[in-house]
Amino acid sequence: MVQITKVAPSILSADLGNLEREITAVEEAGADYIHFDVMDGHFVPNLSFGPLLMESLRGKVSIPFDTHLMVENPDCYIEPFREAGSRILTVQVEECRHLQRTLACIRASGMKAGAALNPATPLSVLEYVWGDLDLVLIMTVNPGFAGQEYLPAMTPKITAARQMIRESGADISLEVDGGINELTGPLAISAGADILVAGSFVFGSADYGSAIRKLKIEKRR
Ligand code: DX5
Ligand code: ZN
Repeated sequence: MVQITKVAPSILSADLGNLEREITAVEEAGADYIHFDVMDGHFVPNLSFGPLLMESLRGKVSIPFDTHLMVENPDCYIEPFREAGSRILTVQVEECRHLQRTLACIRASGMKAGAALNPATPLSVLEYVWGDLDLVLIMTVNPGFAGQEYLPAMTPKITAARQMIRESGADISLEVDGGINELTGPLAISAGADILVAGSFVFGSADYGSAIRKLKIEKRR
C-alpha cells in the first residue's frame, strides 16, 4: 500500500502574534494537523500555552488539533484540551504514574490517545499498552525547545517502534518530533514514521507549501 507522510507543523515556531493567520496558511499549504506543544516549566524548562489559546483558534481551520503535553500531572488537562477542541492528546510516558489509566481516560473522553517517549526512554515501556494506543510519538530531541538538532541515534528507535506496531496488529500512527527538516525527515520516513512534526523548518521557511511538500514523501507499507 502506498502512503504519503502527514505533516504536523508545530505552532511553537509560528508568529504567535498572528496565530490565526499562521494556522490558516499552513492548512492551505497542505498541513495535515496543527501541533500544539504545551509546556509547563516543570517537565521541561520552558513555558508555552494552554487550552485557552487552543479554544481561541477552534474552528479557524478544518484540520485536527494534535496536542503534545509536556507537563506534570497530565491527567488534569485531558478534559480542558478536549473542551478546547483537541482531537489527539499525547502524554509523555515519563510523567504518567498510571499510563494505562491515562490513555484509557483520553480515549474515554473521545480523543485519540498518544504516548510520547523522550530520547532516553526505552520502547519497552509500551509493552503492555499497545491496545490502549492510537499514536506513538518518538522524540528525536530532548523536549523543551524548537530549533534543536535531530539525534541520529533515534533513527533505529523509529525502526524498532514501527516493527513493534506491526507486531501489535493495532492501528497506531507513528509520529516523530524534533529537528525535522528536508534531510532528517526522509530518514524518519524510511525508518517508518507516518507523521512528521516540524516547527522551525516550516515556520522558518519563506514558502510553507514548499517546506511541507519536502516532508510529504510516498512510502510503501
Ligand atoms: C520540542 C517540541 C517540538 C518542537 C519542534 O519540545 O515538542 O514539537 O517544537 O520544533 P523543531 O521542528 O524546530 O525541532
Ligand atoms: Zn511536540
